[in-house]
Amino acid sequence: MAQQKFLHQRPIQNPFTNPFSSSPLSTSSISNRPISLLSRNGLLLLLALLVILGVFLPWAGSPLFPSPNKLSPSQSKWRDYSLPQAVKFVAKNGTVIVCAVSYPYLPFLNNWLISVSRQKHQDQVLVIAEDYATLYKVNEKWPGHAVLIPPALDSQTAHKFGSQGFFNFTARRPQHLLEILELGYNVMYNDVDMVWLQDPFQYLEGKHDAYFMDDMTAIKPLDHSHDLPPPGKKGRTYICSCMIFLRPTNGAKLLMKKWIEELETQPWSRAKKANDQPGFNWALNKTANQVDMYLLSQAAFPTGGLYFKNKTWVKETKGKHAIIHNNYIVGFEKKIKRFRDFNLWLVDDHASESPLGKLE
Ligand SMILES: *[C@@H]1O[C@H](CO)[C@@H](O)[C@H](O)[C@H]1NC(C)=O
Ligand SMILES: *[C@@H]1O[C@H](CO)[C@@H](O)[C@H](O)[C@H]1NC(C)=O
Ligand SMILES: *[C@@H]1O[C@H](CO)[C@@H](O)[C@H](O)[C@H]1NC(C)=O
Ligand SMILES: *[C@@H]1O[C@H](CO)[C@@H](O)[C@H](O)[C@H]1NC(C)=O
Repeated sequence: MAQQKFLHQRPIQNPFTNPFSSSPLSTSSISNRPISLLSRNGLLLLLALLVILGVFLPWAGSPLFPSPNKLSPSQSKWRDYSLPQAVKFVAKNGTVIVCAVSYPYLPFLNNWLISVSRQKHQDQVLVIAEDYATLYKVNEKWPGHAVLIPPALDSQTAHKFGSQGFFNFTARRPQHLLEILELGYNVMYNDVDMVWLQDPFQYLEGKHDAYFMDDMTAIKPLDHSHDLPPPGKKGRTYICSCMIFLRPTNGAKLLMKKWIEELETQPWSRAKKANDQPGFNWALNKTANQVDMYLLSQAAFPTGGLYFKNKTWVKETKGKHAIIHNNYIVGFEKKIKRFRDFNLWLVDDHASESPLGKLE
């Protein structure tokens, strides 16, 4: 029953209230020290002032605090970089891999990118930056691989995690995917709290419109059906909106349009603390007769509720896992710890394998 509660909830949280400990956002430990020195003597006062200037001046021009009037030439360039330009630049074989990231989640982006690079698909990755800091940072290290689709997530909206404004913001995801399909590309969407252990493209069998994974923990036989599963207790399925592959077909476009519609007609409510996953499941339900759908194998695409909780199953299905999703857990630090415990936190020792390199 406890698992029921978390079943359909994607553990996103307000990233801005929970920055990683070494984050430049937390300056309190630095700013406290000079104040205690003030009372001693003039020399120390001067020293303190120098420390403060040294600490804060570099940030004045940082991408964290972009001032529209003082953008560097390269920053203005990325500000105007459009989705069609970006998709054209990164696509290989008519396919792009997209994720959506805000600044505090860069370590997760980097971790995911290392695993994508190991399968040689990093060149196809396009990061949809949710704020300007992310746009500039990614493009500075890896030109052309991040795009921002205005409006940006402002810190005011971000602070109100679980609010309608935040829901509206994340609800733009199917619109971005639809736009990429309309441009004629295949698109794979991934959450960045994922790690690839194998190339997922080898599992995209046939020529179906939409491919997705189940978020249910119940163990299925290895040869389970690839059809949309029957609805669960809430009258709908528990397909994860965390990993989706779409071909630029009428069926896939219809599914995205239905998803957008579902998010509009079953909007945010305080009680439900909605995210975009239930809307996706209702869209699947309502378009099942018109869209050619393919449920990916559970052994290759297990929910975190299974992979991280059943050692026996993991042993039994060894060598069959393609993408691991760190869900069924809430909290930034908890996710990192769990990745570390399972040797999936690659950024500690393998940052050089990421196209972004070591982030600091
Ligand atoms: C593109 O397709 C070719 C031929 O199918 C394949 O060999 C190659 O690995 C693909 N490239 C990428 C980046 O997927
Ligand atoms: C969110 O979207 C709904 C439906 O489009 C709209 O009525 C509402 O005003 C929006 N709320 C915020 C805070 O953006
Ligand atoms: C759609 O959901 C309804 C209500 O739960 C259910 O009766 C129906 O079988 C579902 N359709 C499909 C194709 O899953
Ligand atoms: C764990 O996996 C094993 C092997 O697949 C299965 O028999 C068992 O029922 C699972 N345990 C739970 C708690 O789901």
